[in-house]
Amino acid sequence: MRIGLLTGGGDCPGLNAVIRAVVRRGLQGENTFVGFRHGWSGVLADDAIELTLASTAGILPRGGTILGTSRTNPFADGQDGTTSIRRTLQARGVDALVPIGGEDTLGVALRLHREGIPIVGVPKTIDNDLGGTDVTFGFHTAVQIVTDAIDRLHTTAESHNRVMVVEVMGRHTGWIATYAGLAGGADAILVPERPFDIDQVAAHLRRRHERGRSFSIVVVAEGATPREGSLQVRHGSATDAFGHVRLGGIGVTLEEELEARTGYESRVTILGHVQRGGTPVAFDRVLATRFGVAAMDAATSERFGTMVGLRGTAIVEVALEQALAESKLLDPKLYETAELFFG
Ligand code: F6P
Repeated sequence: MRIGLLTGGGDCPGLNAVIRAVVRRGLQGENTFVGFRHGWSGVLADDAIELTLASTAGILPRGGTILGTSRTNPFADGQDGTTSIRRTLQARGVDALVPIGGEDTLGVALRLHREGIPIVGVPKTIDNDLGGTDVTFGFHTAVQIVTDAIDRLHTTAESHNRVMVVEVMGRHTGWIATYAGLAGGADAILVPERPFDIDQVAAHLRRRHERGRSFSIVVVAEGATPREGSLQVRHGSATDAFGHVRLGGIGVTLEEELEARTGYESRVTILGHVQRGGTPVAFDRVLATRFGVAAMDAATSERFGTMVGLRGTAIVEVALEQALAESKLLDPKLYETAELFFG
């Protein structure tokens, strides 16, 4: 078979491990590989490279993606990229396409599958908000990066008696904020799933400091929202090809508002794309490798319209349609556990 690969959406530690695993697994049979560059844009414009044992050697621990990525949407602004995509796949002799991406990239994959294009998806996002899988690769790397940052912020917060606000990624969900907040001993965690009241957060910090604590760590997901009407947050106005607003800025608002309400000196750290950069942790390398092997097996068996995933400790295949039906929101029990340590 001839397999086409692409990586779409935000980059994520472990993408190269998937590419390597698909190729290595596929080379155990009579398969060849073409890698489309920069997500769907490479398929639309027929921009691709040959993937071989040699060209995928040594990439297991490398962050980013050797194929490049983009947020190109073949269906943006009412367009229909299906014809161009079909033309490229035919010209390149592609028998199965393996897109590695999050809800947007895989949403395009589902639409193409419905048009009869043979597709097997691989879930990717540091946000960990995709359905159909317990975990996405990249998430644990992001959590480790944030945890390391919180550890460092703890010592400077303690030295200066400050409130440290740490803004982390998480557009729709607070998985990174809650995991890293729990691991780093945060004193408050604000997530999109639970709209917050700024006065309650300030009161909580005051109570904590009155009990003798001299500093606080507040972790906030970029997509966290204040209770309606309670606070104005300044996000940018730019949107991507899938209509998502560029987030970022809630941390700055919190720094100002918490300092104004409590009188405690406050500082914000916005971790941003640091969370997506660099080498994947071992868990993500293993998960990405298992996903790559499973995707190759699904493709050779022509189980199209599926996405590979992790359920418990087992690798499974789920229908793309089912996986994309709704976002995987934060487990409330996990948040309640983190909350026990806010004191
Ligand atoms: O890939 C998910 C994500 O990291 C979100 O958490 C974040 O809102 C977004 O990507 C940032 O996208 P970009 O890299 O395009 O600024």
